[in-house]
Amino acid sequence: MHITLIAGARPNFVKISPIIHAIQAHNRSNSPRIEYALVHTGQHYDKQMSDSFFDDLKIPTPDVNLNVGSHSHAEQTARIMVAFEAYLVSHATNCVLVVGDVNSTMACAIVAKKMNIKVVHVEGGLRSGDMTMPEEINRLVTDSISDYFFTTSEIANGHLRREGVNDDRIVLVGNTMIDSLVGSLGEIKRPESTSGLDLNDYYLLTLHRPSNVDQQNGLLSLLHTVDELANGRKIIFPIHPRTAAQIGDQGIFKNFHFVPPLPYLEFLFLMKGASAVITDSGGIQEETTYLKVPCLTLRPNTERPETIEIGSNQLIGDDMDALAKALIQIQSNKWKQSDIPPLWDGRASERIVQQLVKLLG
Ligand code: UD1
Repeated sequence: MHITLIAGARPNFVKISPIIHAIQAHNRSNSPRIEYALVHTGQHYDKQMSDSFFDDLKIPTPDVNLNVGSHSHAEQTARIMVAFEAYLVSHATNCVLVVGDVNSTMACAIVAKKMNIKVVHVEGGLRSGDMTMPEEINRLVTDSISDYFFTTSEIANGHLRREGVNDDRIVLVGNTMIDSLVGSLGEIKRPESTSGLDLNDYYLLTLHRPSNVDQQNGLLSLLHTVDELANGRKIIFPIHPRTAAQIGDQGIFKNFHFVPPLPYLEFLFLMKGASAVITDSGGIQEETTYLKVPCLTLRPNTERPETIEIGSNQLIGDDMDALAKALIQIQSNKWKQSDIPPLWDGRASERIVQQLVKLLG
């Protein structure tokens, strides 16, 4: 059996790493080997957005980097498709495994399916219902053509069933992002860029969604409100390149401590120690749920509702009164009791490999 694994952007690296490690562990046992190749599309390419994740997560060097880089959605997707098709023509495989919901996920799924290669989607079935999010379009397209789905929750399974997928193509395995988290907690390290800061009581902020950052006025107004509501507490802000480009030289705030995008182990250090995380990321809603750190999500919806129903997350949208109230609750230790969703136990990738052997072996 030969599997081609796809990774292109930062969150993909976190999701693919434990799957590779589980395949390597399988290959050390007496079972028939799973041959695999890792394709990096090059959607993310800066050292801090890509290489540092390969180092921290001990991901082997990709067999190929398609080096597509940053472009408009159509051009980025098209370039990935052209390059990946050429790769598959000369590198036969039985199955293409994609993770998450970035442009690389959708582009590679389409190419593989049109070449009659089985497509497996890890993290299938997530739905925000928000068609203004590029990721929602990527999810819907990918899931409409995938052969098998490895899912993170019963809610995701429900979406797939409603869209006509039979149960024999869906396996609830848990969350590979949590596998990486569980495997890395013993190695977290304080970022040098925070040396000298008192890290006793701070908020961690991340923002990169186009809806929050692509209009400079709206972004600056949001940041100034967060600055006021912090009430003197430090706000550590690892800043995504998309967001940095908008802030430019307008970044003058009382409580902000700007740092570059952080390597995985340093970001985990800050997330684990934060009094609260304020974010528009999808993955961080899951990671904070596992860590039981309060998470305030600056989005009107989420494709990960279990982080609200079970976990430590609350949707804030653009309601700054709700943000103010939530921060007061957190500061007075009145945040909700939360739990960890079923199977988010660090062993999802092991289950994926067992299932791959059954489904494709
Ligand atoms: C992408 C994903 C998003 C994911 C996010 C994590 C899509 C549609 N979006 O969004 O789901 O949450 O990654 O970061 O796939 N840039 C750099 N260096 C890099 C990569 C990007 O400077 O290594 C800059 C470029 O100016 C680029 C911009 O960041 O235009 C946005 O990058 P892009 O990959 O298009 O989207 P993200 O916002 O990162």
